[in-house]
Amino acid sequence: MTETISHSPDKSIDDVSFDQLRQLVGLVDYDESRDPFPVKSMDAVVFVVGNATQTALFYQVAFGMEQIAYSGPETGNRDHKSYVLKSGSARFVITGGVRPDSALLDHHRAHGDGVTDLALEVTDVDKCIEWARKQGATVLDEPHDVSDEHGTVRIAAIAAYGQTRHTLIDRSRYTGVYLPGYQPRKGAYRKPEGAPKRVFQAVDHCVGNVELGKMDYWVEFYNRVMGFVNMAEFIGDDIATDYSALMSKVVANGNHRVKFPLNEPAVAARKSQIDEYLEFYGGPGVQHIALATNDILATVDHMRAAGIEFLETPDSYYDDPELRARIGNVRVPIEELKRRKILVDRDEDGYLLQIFTKPTGDRPTVFFEMIERHGSLGFGKGNFKALFEAIEREQDRRGNL
Ligand SMILES: [Fe+2]
Repeated sequence: MTETISHSPDKSIDDVSFDQLRQLVGLVDYDESRDPFPVKSMDAVVFVVGNATQTALFYQVAFGMEQIAYSGPETGNRDHKSYVLKSGSARFVITGGVRPDSALLDHHRAHGDGVTDLALEVTDVDKCIEWARKQGATVLDEPHDVSDEHGTVRIAAIAAYGQTRHTLIDRSRYTGVYLPGYQPRKGAYRKPEGAPKRVFQAVDHCVGNVELGKMDYWVEFYNRVMGFVNMAEFIGDDIATDYSALMSKVVANGNHRVKFPLNEPAVAARKSQIDEYLEFYGGPGVQHIALATNDILATVDHMRAAGIEFLETPDSYYDDPELRARIGNVRVPIEELKRRKILVDRDEDGYLLQIFTKPTGDRPTVFFEMIERHGSLGFGKGNFKALFEAIEREQDRRGNL
């Protein structure tokens, strides 16, 4: 098989092999030569937060990430601090405004901690932008070169839902640690003895919440503007509970390396979890980032010990004979999953193990999913009802149901 993902020249982020990725995130073969907007991989998930210094430490302690680079007043950037963290092939950039007049502080006032940019590594920035513009996309940042002593990146950006953007980066001529303007800088945090080498290895998918009636608009946007294909589709009863409902469709680039599920609220008896998000984020935005791990038991044990709270799953979920029959044999005894509240789903291709954190910031908006795939290319459709009932119990405790 020929490699359809090429890797960043930056070896520090290049330490998950193509075969590992294939298993971790569920890659498929495709013909890149027919792709009008070829995407190589997720480049970075960029967060704007209220306190980047503390948040960067949070992801090192609780998510086992490693700080690799920094930009801030000490490096000549007077406006904000940005910490670059990595875990396997995943890269997070955590940014917060420093000067009182920083535009980032206005963004944070409006949205709270959240994801501003799902940056994508592409082979040809100009080709992608030319195509996207022709298809009606809003170009936020025209293609341009940025250089330092480590080479040149070609960079541009297009608008996505809400205040979210997709920066497009060609880093094939660049050997620096992240981008020009960033300096290599490790964090002062040292992992305790016996901590796992990594808590996760890759970004699996990034989910967007959009307004009622806008899901198909954005599915069509990704189809038309970025050449993404439609994956599994969940509508109506699949993810409806008595009080809350949502609709979801999934788009992905050709080889499924980049997967963007899109949710909209569905009409139900009580307020949907998507409505709650839209209210507290102040509009559409990224709802959750799913992180792929090859050992979800160790992942959950590490994160729980660090204080991360996960959604509860009722014991009845594990004792349900129908569920046991449906999931069949998985790599660990069900009791081990039950102890950790890890969910299981199976489809025609295999199975997956998954678990969801509670929102990690102050607002009931952004959260994380940890996912271990064994052949399944799905998103846990069979778990949605069990899961959403658990989410609603949380929503009720916040008085927002
Ligand atoms: Fe997910």
